[in-house]
Amino acid sequence: MRERTTTISHEAVEIQRALARDIRARADAPKTYHITTYGCQMNAHDSEAIAGILEEMGMAAEKQQDLADLILFNTCCIRDNAERRAMGNIIFTKEIKKQRPQALVGVLGCMVQQEGAAEKLREKQRHVDFALGTGEIYRLPERVLHALEGRREEAFARGEDSTLYEGMPVLRQSPFMAYLTVMYGCDNFCSYCVVPSVRGRERSRKLQDIVREARGLVDDGVKEIMLLGQNVNSFGLDGGGPRFPELLRALHEETGIERLRFMTSNPKDLSDALIREIAENPAVCPHLHLPAQSGSDKMLNAMNRRYTRAMYDERLRALRDAMPDIGITTDLIVAFPGETEEDFEETLDLVAQSRFDSAFTFIFSPRTGTVAAKLPGRISQPLARERIARLIKAQEGITREVFESLAGSETQALADSPAKRGKGRLSGKTGRGMGITFEGGPELIGQIVPVKVTGFGSNTLKGETLL
Ligand code: SAH
Ligand code: SF4
Ligand code: F3S
Repeated sequence: MRERTTTISHEAVEIQRALARDIRARADAPKTYHITTYGCQMNAHDSEAIAGILEEMGMAAEKQQDLADLILFNTCCIRDNAERRAMGNIIFTKEIKKQRPQALVGVLGCMVQQEGAAEKLREKQRHVDFALGTGEIYRLPERVLHALEGRREEAFARGEDSTLYEGMPVLRQSPFMAYLTVMYGCDNFCSYCVVPSVRGRERSRKLQDIVREARGLVDDGVKEIMLLGQNVNSFGLDGGGPRFPELLRALHEETGIERLRFMTSNPKDLSDALIREIAENPAVCPHLHLPAQSGSDKMLNAMNRRYTRAMYDERLRALRDAMPDIGITTDLIVAFPGETEEDFEETLDLVAQSRFDSAFTFIFSPRTGTVAAKLPGRISQPLARERIARLIKAQEGITREVFESLAGSETQALADSPAKRGKGRLSGKTGRGMGITFEGGPELIGQIVPVKVTGFGSNTLKGETLL
């Protein structure tokens, strides 16, 4: 077991919160903000903390980017296209600043954490006023101050990210579904992935801090909590404290939350104890996101995933033995360097055998600084696109079959909004994590409603309310 402890700081956050209140009183302080968020749930949740801090600084959200006093980008660099999209929009704000020179532009998130990225922004994008890394969000007040005072060196400085900061204000997007971070960072170093270098080493929060936050959410009327961590199976390893199954148990017993979900669980260390806990804990939803990445052992090895196809199959069997109706979703990468037609067919075979509810599919994107970026055997883009199209088609067929098998079954849906199509209908999410539409009025939004599945559309179920 690793001998490492995570430092936790409440004080640093308190100092910044006091500064936030001081900035509020300044005449030149920005009054409105606009945040564009890219990337995964972690970033979505970070944006909620960013918004929480900005509101404490006295700012209000502005829907229109070009009207905001403070324009922020919470960036992602997991694949080249995510990064290019963000960069294009950041560059465009130069035009906004021609009209409104007093507006401030800040770049946050994973892109900023890349080697030399903050310096490059500082030198090449003169219209950008500050940058701030993922581990330092709590320092936003200080950064805004640096930007207001034109202290450019400090406004782009990079700090350390080994400390974990507690006590940030959070402005949540939904009143009944909430994200809750249980751990930060990742130590896995899959060969293609930038996350360990942009999110730092694994740092787990204290179980009691998590339970306290969850209790607060339940008191506020939250029905479903999504626990976040790049590799929740490692929860607690850095502090020698309770592990993830114990955390799930404590959350159920000590908060009364109705639904718990979590992501992501790495197949290599999905333990029997966790499977048992998912099966036995009434709050944990019957859904697991278990990224397989590939069906080929050769590719899995080159990806440094540290499991084989056989191990993955065995974990799926164990999950389904314990919970026959569990829904499994996955992530798959095609065209990893050296992937032959046979390797790719093994991924197609994995999809055919595993019967995932759905899959997120990606074309390998070489990322600077990762091992895979230097591997020989790059696959051409036309071939990569052909493979991903075949893979998507194969999974679509399976998803359809899964949907068909659910016809006539009864489920519970958390109603979240009026359905886009169909008057008097709502859209919601089943415990298994599938989208579903059913009839109902706005008074049901935020409620868990019993629904009978009657059919399906292209990617959601259709149902009738059993009230
Ligand atoms: N921690 C999670 C994944 C986070 S990234 C896990 O280990 O499962 C989300 C997904 O993006 C990954 O599962 C992978 O499928 C994909 N991904 C990450 N880096 C990529 C790259 N360089 N090229 C293509 N896809 C990538
Ligand atoms: Fe990236 Fe692998 Fe960590 Fe997931 S487990 S964040 S894919 S390094
Ligand atoms: Fe998430 Fe993208 Fe960062 S996927 S962790 S926002 S690189």
